[in-house]
Amino acid sequence: MPDSKKRGAFIVIEGLDRSGKSTQAAKLCERLEHEDIPVKLQKFPGTCLSLSYAKSTYFASVPDRTTTIGKMIDSYLRSESELDDHTIHLLFSANRWELANSLEKTLNAGTTVLCDRYAFSGIAFSASKGLSYEWCRAPDVSLPAPDLTLFLDITPEKAKERGGYGEERYEKEETQRRVRQVFARMGEEMTSGSQDSSHGQWITVDAGRGVDIVAEDIWTHIRPLASGVSGPLNRLWS
Ligand code: TMP
Ligand code: MG
Repeated sequence: MPDSKKRGAFIVIEGLDRSGKSTQAAKLCERLEHEDIPVKLQKFPGTCLSLSYAKSTYFASVPDRTTTIGKMIDSYLRSESELDDHTIHLLFSANRWELANSLEKTLNAGTTVLCDRYAFSGIAFSASKGLSYEWCRAPDVSLPAPDLTLFLDITPEKAKERGGYGEERYEKEETQRRVRQVFARMGEEMTSGSQDSSHGQWITVDAGRGVDIVAEDIWTHIRPLASGVSGPLNRLWS
């Protein structure tokens, strides 16, 4: 049971496409619910959910591809529309900002929030296309900062073997390789102490292993936060 004086923990799961983020987020939700920890799953952007997943209680939140901005993102990802690289970057960020208030309220009400992708994906995918890393970071500065980000690391080759690759715009091995390089840079910066700690803790998890092994590894990092967090939310990079 959570401590009533504490706020909920803000946990982000990041990684390449097919790294197992959504599977692990769903497993983690179940585990937290089993421990009587109130939890809400948030997805950026919302996704084309499988029916059983979409019906699950975890998606009581707005699936964010359904907001006006979310619909523009969805159409871009399905290659049904074209947008300038800067424009789509700002839309992804705006999608986070439009949900930031409700996310903060949920946390302050004592509910743990598990976020499937966040600002780190925004930077990694856009910077991998050649946009400046600093420029990519700017629009997300001062969003609510996660307490913990779990980066599910997998090679693009292994991710591709998992199937379903190629349906969306970025699901190409070469793109994923470049995205992984930017994630690696972010991970180094956030673990080297070269920045202030307003981005929260960053843990890299080897996601190339079996689902249950990865889930157990993730749980060891989540457990200390499950009863809630003391102190206010930080603001990203500020
Ligand atoms: P999804 O596969 O998790 O639904 O995400 C869809 C794609 O959107 C994925 O290839 C990563 C990309 N993306 C960005 O380019 N910028 C962002 O800010 C986010 C959240 C995702
Ligand atoms: Mg995807």
